[in-house]
Amino acid sequence: MAKKAKVSVRGYFKDLMGWFGLMKARQAWIDAGDPNIDTTDNAAKLAKELHADAVNAKIIKIKDETPSTKTFTFKALEGSTMPYFNAGQHISVKFCIDGKWVTRPFSVSSCPRDTDEGILEITLRKMPGGYVTGWVWDNWKEGTEVLFNGAFGDGYWSAIRDREHVVGIAGGSGITAFRSIAKDMATSGRPRKFTILYGSRSQDDIIFFDELNEIAAASNGAISVHHVLSEPKEGWTGETGFIGADIIKKLVPDWDNVSYFVSGPQPMYDFLEGEFKKMGIRKKFIRMEEYGETADITTSPLYPKGKEDKSFKIKVIFGLDEQVIDAKATDTVVVSLEKAGLAPDSHCRSGACGWCRSLLLEGEVWQRPQSDGVRMSDKEHGYFHPCSAYPMSDITIQVTSRL
Ligand SMILES: Cc1cc2nc3c(=O)[nH]c(=O)nc-3n(C[C@H](O)[C@H](O)[C@H](O)COP(=O)(O)OP(=O)(O)OC[C@H]3O[C@@H](n4cnc5c(N)ncnc54)[C@H](O)[C@@H]3O)c2cc1C
Ligand code: FES
Repeated sequence: MAKKAKVSVRGYFKDLMGWFGLMKARQAWIDAGDPNIDTTDNAAKLAKELHADAVNAKIIKIKDETPSTKTFTFKALEGSTMPYFNAGQHISVKFCIDGKWVTRPFSVSSCPRDTDEGILEITLRKMPGGYVTGWVWDNWKEGTEVLFNGAFGDGYWSAIRDREHVVGIAGGSGITAFRSIAKDMATSGRPRKFTILYGSRSQDDIIFFDELNEIAAASNGAISVHHVLSEPKEGWTGETGFIGADIIKKLVPDWDNVSYFVSGPQPMYDFLEGEFKKMGIRKKFIRMEEYGETADITTSPLYPKGKEDKSFKIKVIFGLDEQVIDAKATDTVVVSLEKAGLAPDSHCRSGACGWCRSLLLEGEVWQRPQSDGVRMSDKEHGYFHPCSAYPMSDITIQVTSRL
């Protein structure tokens, strides 16, 4: 017969008093201990360096790359550690514009090893009418302090996942992450081969033209760069048009034995998805960068018809605070919150990372299908990702973080 454990329950009050006794005994042990003991928790310190909550840095250099593109060099301020990252990842930069917080993700364009010197670079293209990039062009100068966190994303090479030959397909400012991978290869040697197919409108729009050529020339054939122009000027003898199956097969002889990394504008992701399907490339060998935000969602054929001109109310619950704000059906819930000065923290702004995850208590939202990273179990419990969801009625939401 099994032995019965002797457990005596002394009753609510006595049990509670017993706990206070334990606290006293614990304090006595602490008081009796060596006051000079090193209490640094090295694991916690490392975790904080790898996943910093917030990094304070200063712009120490600004370089014009093309008429619409600049590289900003950040140096960590004293007390901040530049986060370690894998080449291909992005950071989330926080901006306070007219007293209201917004975030934007930017791929790191520098080499991971530069973080040892407290250095990190991002390269921005100014969008016509761009809310943040327009503000950056007017406000960021050498000496400006910046705030960001990261790094995030899985657009980096991994030995257990990816092939030794990576084909990086970039469009426009999507080349920034590949500059980081190419620079990293010079010291890490991984992946073993990197072929960059870089689509730009014309010669003037190519970012890092000379620099990538120099990196390729010094790589003993490990790195090659092919430019493809959609609107070439006279005299261009290279490839033209859009990067698709035909161009890939022509420029990459082992195209069916490589991993594909894609980083560029949204039409490029949508187009290449079909091209990869045609080529029979398995999904595990394709890594698309996060989809990003859509400047005008009404241009998407998937956007629900009849909602284009609608406005709704969002009741926002954060802790004990409740506020009702106006929202357009064509703005993501995050953008409406930001416009109302209630920005939740957000990183990818593409529905992928789950950082903005919130609870939908009432009403209906449309989650953009290309950015529906909400887990099945989260959906069951009413969670959604406000950075890629649009209100389709008045809604009530509970947000869990605020900037
Ligand atoms: C993973 C990832 C990496 C990226 N890396 C790079 C990179 O390396 N380089 C680069 O140049 N870009 C990069 N981008 C794109 C970048 O994050 C921005 O989307 C881009 O710079 C345009 O920002 P913008 O605010 O100027 O453009 P906009 O089109 O003006 O802004 C985008 C969104 O802001 C909203 N908005 C407009 N007004 C307001 C307001 N008052 N308050 C709040 N929101 C408002 C708009 O509705 C729109 O949805 C990356 C994107 C992703 C997803
Ligand atoms: S910010 Fe990444 S899911 Fe919303």
